[in-house]
Amino acid sequence: MIRAMGVILGLETSCDETAAALVRDGRAVLGQAVASQHDLHARYGGVVPELASRAHVERLTPVVRAALDQAGLRIGQVDAVAVGHRPGLVGSLVVGVSAAKALAWRLGVPLVGVDHVRAHLYAPRLHEAGEAEPPASQTDAEVYPALGLVVSGGHTSLYRVDSALEMLRLGKTIDDAAGEAFDKAAVMLGLGFPGGPNLDRLAESGDPSAETLPRSLLGPDSLDFSFSGLKTAMLYRVCGRPERGVRFGGAQQIAQAAAGLGDRERADLAASFRDAVVDVLARKLVRAAEALRAEGVGLKSIVVGGGVSANRALRRRLPETATRLGLGLHVAPMAYCVDNAAMIAGLAQARLDAGQCDDLGLSVAASGVDAIGTAGAAGTPDSAPG
Ligand code: KG4
Ligand code: ZN
Repeated sequence: MIRAMGVILGLETSCDETAAALVRDGRAVLGQAVASQHDLHARYGGVVPELASRAHVERLTPVVRAALDQAGLRIGQVDAVAVGHRPGLVGSLVVGVSAAKALAWRLGVPLVGVDHVRAHLYAPRLHEAGEAEPPASQTDAEVYPALGLVVSGGHTSLYRVDSALEMLRLGKTIDDAAGEAFDKAAVMLGLGFPGGPNLDRLAESGDPSAETLPRSLLGPDSLDFSFSGLKTAMLYRVCGRPERGVRFGGAQQIAQAAAGLGDRERADLAASFRDAVVDVLARKLVRAAEALRAEGVGLKSIVVGGGVSANRALRRRLPETATRLGLGLHVAPMAYCVDNAAMIAGLAQARLDAGQCDDLGLSVAASGVDAIGTAGAAGTPDSAPG
């Protein structure tokens, strides 16, 4: 039996955050360190894969040391090594996976590969060590079956979640992810990279009803998302609608138009854009919950994770949505919304408890898997790009 109740070291290098964390019994975060690469990529307005991989190589060892120091542990006290191995930038994933293999082999402990997107849905189960134990409502029996929403820079997907390890994707974005849309709208408003948190902050001082922006719900039964229409509406609002046959001048034209916005106008646009995204997310949650109930699924709660779950307006709206549906609500704590290694170590414990782990042949993959272990429910058991 491959079981290691105890302390798991998690590593996460799927994109532009180099992260390590120590988690006890799958729930209590003893220490976590994250080295963000925002400084490296800001001038390019997005993540440059080659720069990201090299930075992971340079930053991983100091980050692991910092997490161990915070936890007051030595590397020899680790009972298993977990790593996010899909989906993500392949060159970045390889750095974390190679390091995890070396550590697991050297320490003689299990190696556990974890799906990054599924780990975002596990993040609401984590708490900082020393804080009160999670409330009784956080026991598996009270959380699952749940309706899951992952909202990040790469994903906006709804899941039927039957346990930490069993889930089925019900819908996904057909164009931009919500975080990507926030980042692009932030560029249109002349806000720095990464745009999501900056737009969120500015939106607090704006009026969400100042501008009418579209909310795409797709077909009446669709559980997919689309944010490209909203993004284009924002672009036209800021730069003006292009004349037929005339192309936009690109980044320079957008920067000029953004610079011409007044402070109040910019804040109102940020608030209106944020309100449109949050409104769509909340309405799709209601639609998905109703669809699952119609199928006879006895839903207990909503679980939400991913970078955009840090959004203030979304966090204010979700309790209202859950109450209306009569469901519990588990949103990732702020410290575990954006990419982090605690969620990787936490979900790894669930895999170990189920007798699962990997060998040194563990591979990386750019795409995720959309159904694991759930049978007989409506959804898409296919695999799709991450
Ligand atoms: O989960 P994450 O760290 O990385 C991916 O797996 O994609 O999510 C990053 C995304 C970025 O697009 C970032 O702008 C967005 O999450 N984000 C936010 C906020 N904080 C992070 N978007 C809106 N409001 C926020 N407060
Ligand atoms: Zn993520």
